[in-house]
Amino acid sequence: MPVPMVGRADALDEIRRAWERVDGGHRCVPAVVTGLPGTGKSTLASAALQVTTPQVVLTGSARLHSPAPYDWLAAVLAGLGERPELPVPSDALSWLAQDPDVPRERYTPDALLRLAVTTVRALVGGRPAVLVVEDLHALDPASLNLIGELATADLPALLVVTSRPPDAAVSPLLTARTLARLSGAPGAVRRHLGALTAAQVGQILDHVYGDSRPSPEVAERVWRRTGGNPYRLTELLAMAGGPERLADEPLPAYLQEQPDLTAREREVLGCLAEGMSNKQIARALGISVRTVTVHVSNLLRKTGVASRTEAAVWAVQREPGVIVGADNAGRRDKPGRTRAQSSA
Ligand SMILES: Nc1ncnc2c1ncn2[C@@H]1O[C@H](COP(=O)(O)OP(=O)(O)OP(=O)(O)O)[C@@H](O)[C@H]1O
Ligand SMILES: [Mg+2]
Repeated sequence: MPVPMVGRADALDEIRRAWERVDGGHRCVPAVVTGLPGTGKSTLASAALQVTTPQVVLTGSARLHSPAPYDWLAAVLAGLGERPELPVPSDALSWLAQDPDVPRERYTPDALLRLAVTTVRALVGGRPAVLVVEDLHALDPASLNLIGELATADLPALLVVTSRPPDAAVSPLLTARTLARLSGAPGAVRRHLGALTAAQVGQILDHVYGDSRPSPEVAERVWRRTGGNPYRLTELLAMAGGPERLADEPLPAYLQEQPDLTAREREVLGCLAEGMSNKQIARALGISVRTVTVHVSNLLRKTGVASRTEAAVWAVQREPGVIVGADNAGRRDKPGRTRAQSSA
């Protein structure tokens, strides 16, 4: 059963209103959607196409493997099937489209950028358009410049851009600058998608399982296990099959969240993985038992596991920094000298 889009109604509304400003106007309006992997950026971009009524849709994203110049435009042109007549010299167009056997580049970067804008303008042809740029973070510098230019062009277009944060980008600085340029354009929409709340995850479970929905405790556990990440949630639902396995269906490594543990929490986790009691941990780290209890409860919350035993298993499977072994035993009485800390 398809999972309904939850928790993004406000964002979608804002995009719909931005479209109303485009339709009838002559200015490009960017709608920038950022978020960590799997937070639902592409899902929101598709929904944006449902709530708008463009006469032209141009969609592109970085293509496989190597980011090439003008990858976005090449993807757009490839998606058109038959290429229309365009007011651009054919050798330049071949270059922009990344045609095979393309002649050696004869144009300066500035000239190519102008020709790329001309190409998009001609494809839009003055009609209300939605331009979709998927995964800006994966694009080449030339495409980023082009998207930046389009943001301020007099085009009757909604420019829907999705991106992971710039620090994960192929060109981090240029991506950050392009995102800032897009967001600064007049009337721009700027949305950062976070995790779903426990209630929103519950809503999805209700929808998927109907009358056989899991208990609120299991729903809460699913929320913790997935960190409210829609991608991890949909994968878990697919793997678990029925509601009875949601709480303990083992998650493969690629679905597990890397929680932000402090150096001290990593140390405590290392001790848990060695099977130490709170009292032993307190002695080993030179802190009070009460402080250990606080660290342990924070660890359980952050890692989404139900018990200290599970935390130990989690640590062994997941945390490369937590190494458990006989040679660690001799360090137990030396606070701050566990390997867990040295790698934190
Ligand atoms: N708001 C939502 N409610 C329910 N399910 C969602 C929601 N957003 C996304 N999903 C589901 O989560 C999965 C991942 O979503 P999507 O591909 O849109 O994420 P993304 O942010 O584009 O990821 P990436 O960074 O990998 O491009 C999809 O299966 C989608 O159906
Ligand atoms: Mg996506």
